[in-house]
Amino acid sequence: RLADMKGLRQGKLKLAIVSTAQYFLPRLLGSFCDANPGIEVALMVTNRQTVLARLAGNEDDLCILGTPPEGLDVIATAVADNPLVILARHDHPLVGERNIAPERVAREPFILREPGSGTRLAAERFFRARGVSLSMRMELGSNEAIKQAVIGGLGLAALSRDTLAMEGRTGILKVLDVQGFPLLRQWQVAYPRGKHLSVVAESFLDHLVANAQAAVEAGSTPLDLPGAVQVAEV
Ligand code: PGA
Repeated sequence: RLADMKGLRQGKLKLAIVSTAQYFLPRLLGSFCDANPGIEVALMVTNRQTVLARLAGNEDDLCILGTPPEGLDVIATAVADNPLVILARHDHPLVGERNIAPERVAREPFILREPGSGTRLAAERFFRARGVSLSMRMELGSNEAIKQAVIGGLGLAALSRDTLAMEGRTGILKVLDVQGFPLLRQWQVAYPRGKHLSVVAESFLDHLVANAQAAVEAGSTPLDLPGAVQVAEV
């Protein structure tokens, strides 16, 4: 136990996060490392499929995913909202329309993340459940590349609201008021059931439970949707 206590001053913290968590998680690491300056952090940023494989293999202290892990015997804790939104360039004809039907969205060219992405999975599940298939224009393996492609006029995209930290503020990207969106999801911190968490991992988990929601809200853009739904309030 004494060794564990010392660990807080000089321990290691190994994390694996899905790509979208990079918009809030490093800021939380900042406040955690300020309070515990001796801690060495290794952070792997990847997609959902890879995080699930690492979780199954017990490769990290903690894993962070956009929705609960499925089919694995793990402990998962929800720490903050993670809404999924549909984005368009500011001058797209659907911007400003209210209550857009999913079928209408499916007629537009769509930019999707790579297979294995949680973002893609969530978007595909939503449209499939309504019997609508998206017209995929392009598949891109990064949220940043997708935002630039939407800005480039290549189509619409579904991304976590957190990815909008900058572009939402400048107004170049707009959130569409699509029926069923924002799709409500929650950030999950997970580790294999029965795993012995180090004191460092346990205190980082406490830090996330206490501060993740505020960090997500601080980084997110107040979205001025034309319809009744205000993403910022979910
Ligand atoms: P992804 O996960 O990086 O695998 O798309 C993000 C999410 O599920 O929110």
